[in-house]
Amino acid sequence: MSRKKFIAGNWKLHMGQEETQNFIQDFLQLQIPENREVFLCPTYTSLAIAKSLSKNSKIKIAAQNLSQYSTGAFTGEVSASMLKELDIEGVIIGHSERREIFKESDDIINAKIKSALDADLRVIFCCGESQNTRENGDTDTWIKNQIQSGLNGITSINNIVIAYEPIWAIGTGKTCDSAEANRVIKLIRNTVLELYDKTSAEKILILYGGSVKSSNASELFSQSDIDGALVGGSSLKVEEFSKIVQS
Ligand code: PGA
Repeated sequence: MSRKKFIAGNWKLHMGQEETQNFIQDFLQLQIPENREVFLCPTYTSLAIAKSLSKNSKIKIAAQNLSQYSTGAFTGEVSASMLKELDIEGVIIGHSERREIFKESDDIINAKIKSALDADLRVIFCCGESQNTRENGDTDTWIKNQIQSGLNGITSINNIVIAYEPIWAIGTGKTCDSAEANRVIKLIRNTVLELYDKTSAEKILILYGGSVKSSNASELFSQSDIDGALVGGSSLKVEEFSKIVQS
């Protein structure tokens, strides 16, 4: 089955409103190829300006996080319906930085995915192993567990894109070998097959993330099961990100 390519720029804690505006104005000049979906994921405070500048373009906007709660006494949180109010199309959930630094457990991630899907947001659901887990030979079990726990109780995965991001490759310049990334992504696709059905497994988009740059994007995208990329550092420069989108 031929799947389209999906490229998302995860800006993390970078790009205030002015930088967002400059980026998007330049990025709008880019002809996004037909079979590609492109998301930018700015910080909460840059979402509204990003959304208004990219209206009527092929650029879609996603948040980097959301609350698993819909309303109430949860200081500092932002709900799925608040993102919908801004017409945001998606949200990243389960990024290793959220898991490690902000102690988000598999249960929290599962609740966040449910909350996003209930609000009709696209979910970019991240998984990935640490250097230690890999060295101990536990990568496959680890990834399978993360997928099973994250998707627990979720009946339809039509609105989910999965991103495989080995933690040791994030922001380190050490890209995972493309054949190895493809192998793990196939394992994720098989896990989806076990949990759902053949059509879901064939249709779901699974991205690679971790030191993706214009010089390695084509090689990664040429693999049978890699459907695109979740890009951190290289998504902060219009020229570099544009090259990745066109790879
Ligand atoms: P990186 O980050 O491209 O800077 O390695 C990827 C990510 O964290 O999503």
